Amino acid sequence: MAALTMKTSTSLLYNNYLLLLRHSRTLYSSGVTLGKAVKAPGVSLLEKEWQREFYQKEKGKIYDKKPFKLTLQPGKPYLWCACGHSKSQPLCDGTHLMAQLRIRVKPIMFRVSEETDVWLCNCKQTNNKPFCDGTHRQEDIQTAIK
Ligand code: FES
Repeated sequence: MAALTMKTSTSLLYNNYLLLLRHSRTLYSSGVTLGKAVKAPGVSLLEKEWQREFYQKEKGKIYDKKPFKLTLQPGKPYLWCACGHSKSQPLCDGTHLMAQLRIRVKPIMFRVSEETDVWLCNCKQTNNKPFCDGTHRQEDIQTAIK
């Protein structure tokens, strides 16, 4: 059952990725360089250099008060849910595209260059998207989720 759920969410993720490729105005924008973005060890986030969504100021709703550990496969595109509304946390399931919800926060697409375990932010308040930077330890975040 878990494998089926994972396959379904992977397929949703891939479909959403294709949708973004088709409709995104930002995917092929030029090489903006990041100032002092902190990288997780062993992870190369080339997409940070050109994805406008990385710089969005608005943050999503608090989904959880702790991060989620995930083993990432090299070369595979991942879409991290930044809005906090996805049902496939910590990854995007396309919920932000539902017009009636009026969600402005966009997901972050990224890949890794080698298989690695990472802690993805699940409180959606991190300053190092998509990784946990410890922001979830703040009292307001801890008390927001029971
Ligand atoms: S889970 Fe969001 S900063 Fe740790």
